Amino acid sequence: MNAPEDAVDRILLAEAVEGGRPSGPVATVDDPTGFLTLALARAWAGSTGSGATPDEEDLRAYADSAAEDRAATDATTAAGAVVEHATTLAGAVADAELVVLRLPKSLAALDEIAATVAAAASPTVRLLAGGRVKHMTRGMNDVLARHFGSVRASLGVQKSRVLVAERPVRPAPGRGPDYPRSERHEDLGLTVWAHGSAFAGTGVDLGTRLLLSQLDRLPAGATTVVDLGCGTGLLATAAARQLPEATVWATDDSRAAVWSTTATARANGVGDQVRTRWWDSLADLGPASVDVVVCNPPFHRGTAKDSGAALAMFADAARVLRPGGELWVVFNSHLPYLPVLRRVVGSTIVATQDPHYLVTRSTRGRTGPRGDGRPTSAASDPS
Ligand SMILES: C[S@@+](CC[C@H](N)C(=O)[O-])C[C@H]1O[C@@H](n2cnc3c(N)ncnc32)[C@H](O)[C@@H]1O
Repeated sequence: MNAPEDAVDRILLAEAVEGGRPSGPVATVDDPTGFLTLALARAWAGSTGSGATPDEEDLRAYADSAAEDRAATDATTAAGAVVEHATTLAGAVADAELVVLRLPKSLAALDEIAATVAAAASPTVRLLAGGRVKHMTRGMNDVLARHFGSVRASLGVQKSRVLVAERPVRPAPGRGPDYPRSERHEDLGLTVWAHGSAFAGTGVDLGTRLLLSQLDRLPAGATTVVDLGCGTGLLATAAARQLPEATVWATDDSRAAVWSTTATARANGVGDQVRTRWWDSLADLGPASVDVVVCNPPFHRGTAKDSGAALAMFADAARVLRPGGELWVVFNSHLPYLPVLRRVVGSTIVATQDPHYLVTRSTRGRTGPRGDGRPTSAASDPS
């Protein structure tokens, strides 16, 4: 079932279908519910601007998020729409005449998308990027203007607007999009690689930094570690260095994060130890199979504050941790996660804190997990 669309979807769809079916491939990027992809498939079923026969390559969808990729794939498959679900952005937009996306929150994410479209799409491509007016900034126009000769904004409809970019500026021969990027952090002894949408880019978030400062306290005998929501892989890489005998699973819902982590781990000499996975849950790891989980959970979903993902991650961690295993989490001090961690995982202490963040260590109850995220022996908590 296709999820209900919103005003941004509607204005993007109206702008996309105006002028009819393009003569070449069409790509949707990060269409979270599959609505746009499916609506375009329906709008143009059986018609092509060039008179060519539609084939499977005509309509492509690319999603960075594993959960959104699944939702969009389910929606289009259930409706019987012929859509190629691409595994790379460059593959999705190659030779495209039309690219439709919702504006990402970060300018770096938009920059990488715009650079990729400008380099790989047709010279006559039209890129449509829609968003809520309150979330749109002048900087978004400026980013698009770096990669396209023409950028204009549509009229606003229901507090939403579309930026229309045309006349892509091709990169110099032999040069592609300037991503991923890297930065050396001498104070941490780490080199970070980051795609545009990766959390904190090539920088180091203050919460991540605080959790990094605690990794020398991980249990020395740990052989299986998970960095849950690995971003650019700083925690996974530092944990691998701290525990050279351990296998570190670095998982993230975002493809860009997983690719960034692979590059970061390799750059720091622990590429063989860190196993990256594009996962939005730990369902593929068995119960009681992990010694340590480290996690800096997301605090936002897109532009909205949302604790849902963090709470699901804690339950996931509780399931995979062996009795006595440890979950290390960093979060903003105002978030009410301490009682949740005690209830869902087990005994929890504050390992360190600063004016903004808490780092906690939760120990999985000794009576063994029930596989449902419920605590096994957390009734009395010393902290
Ligand atoms: C606050 S960032 C932390 C990134 C990195 N660990 C760090 O400290 O720099 C949270 C990360 O969780 C990822 N994420 C969000 N929901 C997720 C889920 N359900 N499963 C796995 N990762 C998720 C996001 O893509 C993001 O990379």
